[in-house]
Amino acid sequence: MAVTSSSDRGSWNSKLGFIMAAAGSAVGLGNIWGFPTKVATEGGAAYLIIYLLCTFLIGFPVMVAELSIGRRSGKNPVGAFKALSDSKFFPFVGLWGVICGVMILSFYTVIAGWAFGYAFEEIFYYFGWDTLAQLLTDTGHGPKNAVIAAVFMFGTIKIISGGVSDGIEKATKTMMPMLIGIIVIMIGYVLTQDGASEGVKEYLLPDFSKINASLIFSAMGQAFFSLSLGMGALITYGSYLNKKENIPQAAAFVTLADVGIAFLAGLMIIPAMYVARNAGIEIFVGDQLASSTDLVFQILPALFHTIGGAMGLILGVVFFLLLSIAALTSTISLLEVPVSYAIDEYGLERKKAAWYIGLGILAVSVAVSFNPSLIGTFDYVFNNLGLPIGGLLICVFVGYVWKTDSAIAEMENGFIGIKQTLFAKVWPFFIKVICPAVILYNIVSNFL
Ligand code: PHE
Repeated sequence: MAVTSSSDRGSWNSKLGFIMAAAGSAVGLGNIWGFPTKVATEGGAAYLIIYLLCTFLIGFPVMVAELSIGRRSGKNPVGAFKALSDSKFFPFVGLWGVICGVMILSFYTVIAGWAFGYAFEEIFYYFGWDTLAQLLTDTGHGPKNAVIAAVFMFGTIKIISGGVSDGIEKATKTMMPMLIGIIVIMIGYVLTQDGASEGVKEYLLPDFSKINASLIFSAMGQAFFSLSLGMGALITYGSYLNKKENIPQAAAFVTLADVGIAFLAGLMIIPAMYVARNAGIEIFVGDQLASSTDLVFQILPALFHTIGGAMGLILGVVFFLLLSIAALTSTISLLEVPVSYAIDEYGLERKKAAWYIGLGILAVSVAVSFNPSLIGTFDYVFNNLGLPIGGLLICVFVGYVWKTDSAIAEMENGFIGIKQTLFAKVWPFFIKVICPAVILYNIVSNFL
C-alpha cells in the first residue's frame, strides 16, 4: 500500500476551524435551496417537525459514528473501513460513498453555477443588458451551464489544493460568518415587507394531516444530504481531527449550525414567496406551489426585479452570492473525499489529486450541463437512496463489526468520563437498533 506524507494528509488547526469546515460542508444548497422549498411544497411546518426529528434522532448519532471512524483510522472512507476491520465488504461501502460524493458533486456544481450566474443576472438586468441577463436565466443552456460549472469547479480545486488547514479551514472560516450575516440581513428585510406574515404562518403552523410515508422519506433524505452524511465526508473530515477534541460535542455544534441555518433560510425564503405573491407574482401552479427550481430561480428573481432600483439589485446579488458561498463550502467537502482517497490509497500528491479528480468530475458536470434532466435521476440514486443506504451500512459497521464500545473508547479522547454519561448508554442503542431500523423501514416503504 502506498505511503502518505503527512503534509499531503494534513490536519485542522483549531477546533473552531474544524467546526466551521464541517458546518460549511453541511450548510449548502440543501439548506438554502432544498430545505425551504421542500417545506413550502411538501407540508409546511409538518415537514419541519419530521425533518427536525430525523436530524436529531437519526442524523446526529450517525454523524458521531462517522467522525469516530474517521478519527480512529485517520483515513479516507475506503481506508478507514480497511483499517478498522478485516471485512472484505465494508471497504466497498467506503467506495460507494466516494462514488456518491463524485456523482453528487457533478450535478451540485451545475446548480451552484445557476446560482452564481444569477448574481450576475441581477447586475445585467439593472443595467438593462437584457440579452446577457436572459442568457443567465436559461437553466437549460448547455454551454453557459458548463462554463459556470467549470468556474465553480476551479475554485473548489484551488481551495482543496491548498490543503486542509491552509486551504479548506481558512476558506470556510471566512465564508461561514459572511453567510450567516447575509441571511440575518435578508430575513430582516423580508419580514418587514407586506405579505410576509402569511408565509411565516405557512412555515410555522403545522398541519399534521400532511404527514405520510413519502413525506418522512423525503425529510430523512433531506436530513442526510443536509448533514453531509452517509458518504464519508465526515469520516474524511474526522480523520483530520485532533485527539483533544470532544467528538459528540463537535457533532452537536455542527448539527445545530446546520439545522439553525436551514431554519433561518426557511424564515427568509417562505415569507419571500408570499411577499412576491403580494406584489402580483404568480407562485402557485393550479393549487400547488411552484416547483423548487422555479421557486428559487424564477420567483425570487422576479421579486428582486419587482422591488427594482438599487434595493432590488443589492438584494438579488447578495442572495445569489449567499447561495454560491454556501455551495462552495459544500463542494469543497465533496471533492475532498475522493482526493483524500487518492492521496491515502494511491499515494498521489494533493495538488495532482485535486486537479485530476476535479477535472474528471467536471467532465461529468459538462454532460449534466447539457442535460439538466439528469439532475433528477442522479439526485434520486446517489442522494435520496445512496446516502441513507450508506448511513445504514455505517450504523451496521459501527454497531456490529467495529463495535460501539470501540467507538466510545475513541471518543474518550477529548471526552474523559464519557463512559459514565447518559450519552454512552443511549448512543449505542441508536446506532445498533433505532437508526438502522428507521432508515431501512424508510427505504423499503419508499419502494412499496
Ligand atoms: N450538505 C450539503 C448541502 O446541504 C451537501 C453535501 C452532501 C455536501 C454530502 C457534502 C456531502 O448542500
